[in-house]
Amino acid sequence: MSENKLLKVTIDNITIEVEPGTTILNAARKIGGEVAPPAMCYYTTLKDSGGKCRTCLVEVAAGSAADPRPMPKLVASCRTTVMDGMVVKNITSERVLDARNGVVEFLLINHPLDCPICDQAGECHLQDLSYEHGKGASRYEFKRRTFDKHNLGEYIQLHMTRCILCYRCVYVADQVSTERKHGILMRGDHAEIATFIEQNLNNDFIGNVIDVCPVGALTDKTFRFKNRVWFTKPVDAHCDCETCSGEVQLWMRGDEVLRVTARKDEWGEVKQSSNGTPGWICNKCRFERKKVSDWVIEGPSKVNRHSVISQGHYEHLQKPSETMPRVMGGRDPKLLMDIKDISEVNQVELSEIKGPATSQNYKQIKKSN
Ligand code: SF4
Ligand code: FES
Repeated sequence: MSENKLLKVTIDNITIEVEPGTTILNAARKIGGEVAPPAMCYYTTLKDSGGKCRTCLVEVAAGSAADPRPMPKLVASCRTTVMDGMVVKNITSERVLDARNGVVEFLLINHPLDCPICDQAGECHLQDLSYEHGKGASRYEFKRRTFDKHNLGEYIQLHMTRCILCYRCVYVADQVSTERKHGILMRGDHAEIATFIEQNLNNDFIGNVIDVCPVGALTDKTFRFKNRVWFTKPVDAHCDCETCSGEVQLWMRGDEVLRVTARKDEWGEVKQSSNGTPGWICNKCRFERKKVSDWVIEGPSKVNRHSVISQGHYEHLQKPSETMPRVMGGRDPKLLMDIKDISEVNQVELSEIKGPATSQNYKQIKKSN
C-alpha cells in the first residue's frame, strides 16, 4: 500500500477522502457547516494545541474498515486521527450532544455570564456554544473561583474569571512572539493565567494572544468599552509594515478606527497572509496605527451571515443617488421644513398623551385640538 493512499472517512453520513494523519476535526472541517465540531482550544497554526477543552468530542461508530468495532468512549476529534473506513457521528449522535451540553455546563461553572459588559460579546466562542448547548440555569451551588488581579501591561487586559484554560495564549507567546512571560500557574481548581512576579506582556507579536483567546479573558485595552462589536464595521486593510505582513482587519465606526485585529477564517482562526506566511500581526499595527490614513482600505471584510456582526454590515452597498443635490444643481438644501407644522396629518402632540399612545387617547387628543 502506498503511503499516501487517501483514507475514506464517513462523518454524519457524508463520506470524504483525506490524507493520512488528518484529524477527525480537520476532516469534518473539509465537509464544513455543522458537521465540524466546535473547538475551543485547538488552533491549526499552534503546535500542540487541542485536547484541553473537550468541546470537540465525537462518537466513533466504527474504528476502521479493518477493525469496525466502535470506540467505547467519545473521543476528542482534534486529537484523534482518521483511519480508513472510520465512521464518525457528530450532530447525528445523541451521546455527543448530551456530552457537549455537559462540557458547556462545566465551562460555565466559573465563567461569569457577563456578556452585556464583555468586549468579546458577539465574537465569543463560548457565547455561541452556550447559546446552542447551554442551560438556562446552573446546578452549581458552591463559591465561584476568584483571583488576584494581574496587570499585563498597557495593551492587554486579563479577566481571569473568564479564562477557560485553553492554553492558546501560552502557545502564542512560545511560538509566535519572541519571549513568553506568562503561563498557567498552579494546578486543578487553582490553575490560572498569570505572569510570575508582575511582568508586562510587551514584545512585538504578543498582541496575538487577544486574537486566539476564545473568550473575553484577554482583551484589547485600546478598544475596551469603546463599542459593541456588532455596531462596528469590519474592513480589510493593509499597510507597508516592516515587522509583519501588515494585512489586518479594521473595526470602524464612521471614519474612526476603533480596533485593529488580524484577519480570521471561518473557524475563527487567524488566516494566512497573501504571501503564504501566518497572518499574525505586530503590536504596532494592532495598537498604534489607529488612523485611517495609516492604512490602504481594500473593502468590507466577509462576515458570516449567521454572525451578529453581519447586522448592519453590507457588502456591495449601492448608495441611492441623492435627489436633492441633483435637483438643486449640486447644492444642499438651506431650509428644511418641519413636517408637523406644514402637514394637516400630524396635528397631535404625542407628548401630551399620558402613557403609551393608543387609538383611544390618540383620538381624544385629536378631538381636543
Ligand atoms: S486567557 Fe484566553 S487564550 Fe489564554 S488560556 Fe485563558 S481562555 Fe485560553
Ligand atoms: S478543541 Fe478538541 S479538546 Fe478542545
